[in-house]
Amino acid sequence: HLVASMEVEETYIMVKPDGVQRGLVGEIISRFEKKGFKLTGLKLFQCPKELAEEHYKDLKSRPFFPKLINYITSGPVVCMAWEGVGVVASARKLIGSTDPLQAEPGTIRGDLAVQTGRNVVHGSDSPENGKREIGLWFKEGELCQWIPAQAPWLR
Ligand code: PPS
Repeated sequence: HLVASMEVEETYIMVKPDGVQRGLVGEIISRFEKKGFKLTGLKLFQCPKELAEEHYKDLKSRPFFPKLINYITSGPVVCMAWEGVGVVASARKLIGSTDPLQAEPGTIRGDLAVQTGRNVVHGSDSPENGKREIGLWFKEGELCQWIPAQAPWLR
């Protein structure tokens, strides 16, 4: 049935340089924590140009590609791996539409941003890309598998 068929997935979430500069790192992490997803990787990182180009390689032919690469490499980003049932699509919902002016209030971009070129956060668009991007941004040994403590009031 529905619940059993939903899979544990991984997604790559990144606070972009504007989010770091504006002091939104805690707020953004908080939204995923409060939702109930599990953090399995976290680091502050200055992204080299080559990695940015690899991450966004599907957009190479787009007119905004050079600006996007400039933006992502303009200062440190916060790289995160999150795990959970249905986390890929759910994280995209929490983040909101690419254009922050179209993003619903209550979403990260809807609440915190106004420009597509400064939309504070990235989230993988499929489980396959989640795996690919986590592999790209994290080295082996940087990810942690852990079991959240059981809530005693549920026993
Ligand atoms: S598209 O057109 O559907 O492929 O675009 P989309 O999937 O919405 O966006 C892909 C990523 O490109 C970023 N983007 C831009 N950056 C700068 N300027 C402009 N005009 C622009 N348009 C799209 C967008 O934020 C997506 O990056 P991530 O990091 O996934 O949010």
